[in-house]
Amino acid sequence: MALKIMTAQEAAMLINDDDNIGFSGFTHAGCPKVVPLELAKRAESEHAQGRPFKVGVFTGASTGDNIDGALARAKAIKFRTPYQTNKDLRNAINNDEVKYFDLHLSTLAQDLRYGFYGTVDVAIIEASHVTEDGEIVPTSGVGITPTIARLAKTVIVELNRWHPKGLRGMHDLMELSDPPHRREIPIYTVRDRIGKDHIKVDPQKIVVVETNMPNDGGGFAPVDEITAKIGQNVVGFFVDEMDKGHIPQSFLPVQSGVGNIANAVLAAMGDSKDIPDFEVYTEVIQDAVIRLMENGRIKFASGGTLTVSNPCIERIYKNLDYFREKIVFRTAEISNNPEVARRLGIIAMNTALEADIFGNINSTHVTGTKIMNGIGGSGDFARSSYLSVFLTPSTAKDGKISAFVPMVSHQDHSEHSVKVIVSEYGVADLRGKCPKDRAIEIIEKCAHPHYRPLLYKYLDSAQRGQTPANLYNAFAFHKAFMETGDMRNAGL
Ligand code: COA
Repeated sequence: MALKIMTAQEAAMLINDDDNIGFSGFTHAGCPKVVPLELAKRAESEHAQGRPFKVGVFTGASTGDNIDGALARAKAIKFRTPYQTNKDLRNAINNDEVKYFDLHLSTLAQDLRYGFYGTVDVAIIEASHVTEDGEIVPTSGVGITPTIARLAKTVIVELNRWHPKGLRGMHDLMELSDPPHRREIPIYTVRDRIGKDHIKVDPQKIVVVETNMPNDGGGFAPVDEITAKIGQNVVGFFVDEMDKGHIPQSFLPVQSGVGNIANAVLAAMGDSKDIPDFEVYTEVIQDAVIRLMENGRIKFASGGTLTVSNPCIERIYKNLDYFREKIVFRTAEISNNPEVARRLGIIAMNTALEADIFGNINSTHVTGTKIMNGIGGSGDFARSSYLSVFLTPSTAKDGKISAFVPMVSHQDHSEHSVKVIVSEYGVADLRGKCPKDRAIEIIEKCAHPHYRPLLYKYLDSAQRGQTPANLYNAFAFHKAFMETGDMRNAGL
């Protein structure tokens, strides 16, 4: 049976006001590109005619600008989950125009299967290949694709010729069975495969839109003095842990968060002669992973997406046979699965916006209210890893903001899940320390010297108990920032 073929504009007409849409992909990678743009235009035209048009948006993680940016600018988003990083969408959320709930990424597929957030009416999936009997091969990112493809009544496949057909074989795709029927996930090493290399759906519900569009993969900022120092501190700590026998000589699988700091830390690990070749079990495979794979330092990477710059993905596509043996793309419920993270003994490295002196972490909200991105996969890994490390420069905004504060203004990761914090000044090892000793460790090892006296002043003023606290001054740093634009003016 021949599949239905349409233009992007025609496909966008299949979507109705108030529908919930599931998009493939994870970050910009694997996301559809042309139908969402037409959907945004359609929303603008409906609004111009005085008619409502908004859709609910489910994705694997953040997306390209063609989804979150275009739909936010068109005021076409009813609600959004589980994660975003787009400037226009972030503004719309913080201005109360879009309802956003940020979730642990590993949980969304199951939540959708149970129908917590309503139905998935339409799935829009970027594919490198689709067959007449309904086999769909995703591109460079997966996310929630198998689940939305099965649940949706209509599946719009963007067949993007920019991605090679040879991607087939790099994916490991399956859906978990739901409780109480779930068995253990049989991934015992980073390389184990448990699913298929494609998704199969009823061809009757497939509509194909043909495209040829590159990913919108920008590069990373070059490693600077601060991120390089954080990288060196992480490496020094890991080497020490190996000497103590806390990390085996063969090393442990590494998860590393997204962004410039994570990229710099991986590069530092690759450069170190004292860290053996290692494997990666993560959600986002970044440029640094590919570079280290090319020089043999990373032996294998399991992830959900290739979030790399376009020159980097072009290199991969030219050498697909080499990379096919070294990379597997999984769904978010497997790439980020807490059961697997705990079993494999992952070293998790994620970034904090701010940490308090007791080890609680805020990864998401500036001064407790404005969302930056969301929790993403950081909670999936931090809570279930063998060793949970959080990274942050000691200050932001030219020193006006201290990343280390008396009490976090919003909490994503609790003191119970955070084992180690690293800044450019050093490594705070929180393991086996009571809250007061953790506070001294964090102030001495990680806080910027300008802020250390202020943090000690807070600690001295705090009421004694298991966890010292002075509830009158707990937000003195944030108050000073809001009133004077500089936390160094905190009156304590
Ligand atoms: N208060 C206010 N702003 C702060 C801040 C603080 N305490 N700390 C950092 N910032 C600002 C920075 O100045 C920067 O602003 P700019 O974009 O205007 O330059 C911005 O926040 C990003 O900080 P940066 O130091 O460049 O780090 P990053 O790009 O690595 O992002 C997070 C840091 C925390 C926002 C990001 O890692 C994130 O969204 N994490 C949550 C999700 C996650 O961890 N996913 C990974 C799981 S695999």
